[in-house]
Amino acid sequence: MKKVIIIYESVYGNTKQIAEAISKGINEHAELESIVKKTGEIHTDDLCNYDAILFGCPNHNQEPALNLLKFIDRASIVHLEGKIGAVFDTYTGGNKDVAAKKLETKVREKMLGIELIGRLSSKVTGRKGPLADDEEQKALEFGIQFGRKLDES
Ligand SMILES: Cc1cc2nc3c(=O)[nH]c(=O)nc-3n(C[C@H](O)[C@H](O)[C@H](O)COP(=O)(O)O)c2cc1C
Repeated sequence: MKKVIIIYESVYGNTKQIAEAISKGINEHAELESIVKKTGEIHTDDLCNYDAILFGCPNHNQEPALNLLKFIDRASIVHLEGKIGAVFDTYTGGNKDVAAKKLETKVREKMLGIELIGRLSSKVTGRKGPLADDEEQKALEFGIQFGRKLDES
């Protein structure tokens, strides 16, 4: 059984919803088990126990949410060689992918062992949400696809 952890930050709950949909998609694979944790709910040392790690957060002023960036900084001393991962963000307006791409750069800089194999950006209809139509379904499909790649790795 391969284990996956999805670490997220969220103010209004939309990014949490996306994290849970991705997790559901991953868990459709019989050989995979994923859990969802907010940054404050997990110690960075525990990351060693997972085969894959996903990171997600809202776009805050064109940047990934600060709490997740701080978590990644703290985790940079943990050995994560051979693991795979993915990033996701939530955004409003025309900022698709902006925070997720920066998150990708941050993970690549700070977590040298992780190979990132996916990126998702989900639109919310206003600062507090809710998620735009279909975004939850797309996140579920993203989870299924990520799980397939992990299964094959
Ligand atoms: C302080 C703050 C700054 C934000 N700045 C941006 C921004 O620059 N671009 C954008 O697309 N969304 C911005 N947003 C909207 C967030 O992306 C939106 O609130 C978030 O996706 C909702 O996710 P959550 O429910 O997980 O907190 C901002 C939200 C907050 C609270």
